Amino acid sequence: MPTGTSGQGPAGAAGPTPPGPGRQPWRAGDSFLAMWRELAPVGRHPESGGYRRYAWSAADLDCRAWFRAQAEARGLTYETDRNGNQWAWLGDPLAGDAVVTGSHLDSVPDGGAFDGPLGVVSSFAALDELHRRGAEFTRPLAITNFGDEEGARFGLACVGSRLAAGQLTVADAHRLRDADGTTLPAAMEAAGYDPGTIGPDPERLARIGAFVELHVEQGRALDLTGDPVGIASAIWPHGRWRFDFRGEANHAGTTRLADRRDPMLTYAETVLAARREAELTGALATFGKIAVEPNGVNAIPSLVRGWLDSRAADQATLDAVVTGVERAAREYAERAGIDLDVVRESFTPVVEFEHALRDELAKILEGGGDTGRPVPVLGTGAGHDAGILSASVPTAMLFVRNPTGISHSPAEHAAEDDCTAGVEALADVLEGLACS
Ligand code: GLV
Ligand code: MN
Ligand code: MN
Repeated sequence: MPTGTSGQGPAGAAGPTPPGPGRQPWRAGDSFLAMWRELAPVGRHPESGGYRRYAWSAADLDCRAWFRAQAEARGLTYETDRNGNQWAWLGDPLAGDAVVTGSHLDSVPDGGAFDGPLGVVSSFAALDELHRRGAEFTRPLAITNFGDEEGARFGLACVGSRLAAGQLTVADAHRLRDADGTTLPAAMEAAGYDPGTIGPDPERLARIGAFVELHVEQGRALDLTGDPVGIASAIWPHGRWRFDFRGEANHAGTTRLADRRDPMLTYAETVLAARREAELTGALATFGKIAVEPNGVNAIPSLVRGWLDSRAADQATLDAVVTGVERAAREYAERAGIDLDVVRESFTPVVEFEHALRDELAKILEGGGDTGRPVPVLGTGAGHDAGILSASVPTAMLFVRNPTGISHSPAEHAAEDDCTAGVEALADVLEGLACS
């Protein structure tokens, strides 16, 4: 059982064990553990131990069914919004000034157990904790599961929250396709959701007074400070760019090297250029996904399509990195007779979380500001639905310590005691914001 702070392999990645003999009769973590255990097998690949919960897939629908069951088991009012995001309400959904918490349940390919689900499971567990405390709610409270946060299937992250916030047009959403050519509306329809309703949802967002997302940290800052929980300050600007290198398919066994127009070589040089540019500027640049045509062992490729993910602390640095990578790629392509197209597929500007809400969280977690040690405030290079919503709604994030910092991997991990501390911190925050 992963109660320690060392990293776990796939066997431990599903997380903490449920309550057992010899434990306290009730702790904030116990309802968390029971839910965690129930959700753990859903969409988990038996060999990699990683999660493949892609938007609108069977695994995603199982996660959604789990969310609905949790809502109904607690007598919450369950609904899906016009973009397929799930909501579980305590109090009147129409009253306004609601306190909303939640995260996402989808995953990257072979993702970890915690990225997303930690926030959703902790939200239900925090509500249970508030009931245990006998809290009296003065504002409506909702728990959410935002759809397609990772963008693993259709290439664009945070589709559910972007649509709601009007940061993705309906026309662009209709153009999203997965690797098999299935469009987003077709996938939604096949999953039993009506794609005809997707679009901006300003009335819903106007009913939210505060959104707080709890998330596993995707770095080691909290491990280094020795704190189980931190508060987010900002999200780096980031985006995804598609590089299409087109050459000429030919026989691998008969085409002289001098006669080849091999886009794989240009792609490889570009990957190295991305690394170089990132090192020069202190930014991040990653080619983590590639598609090759015709994808035959004995054929020179006709097309290599690579996706650049780049992030930096500020916009100017991000621009410099991406411009540098593109400039290098064009030089290499021209020299080798390769055609190159570069398309920006998504972009999220820098997010600075609202200072007033952030300060309020710090005050709550620090016991009024006059006791204990300050809660660390940290920035992140990872994208989140909270970042998207922050343009429309006062938004804050809590991070839970990740002892290795590993994320987007089956080895992603958080210790049981830290998950419990996260639930308690979220309960404190929700009590401070939504209760008398
Ligand atoms: C989402 O986790 C992202 O940062 O890409
Ligand atoms: Mn993620
Ligand atoms: Mn996430």
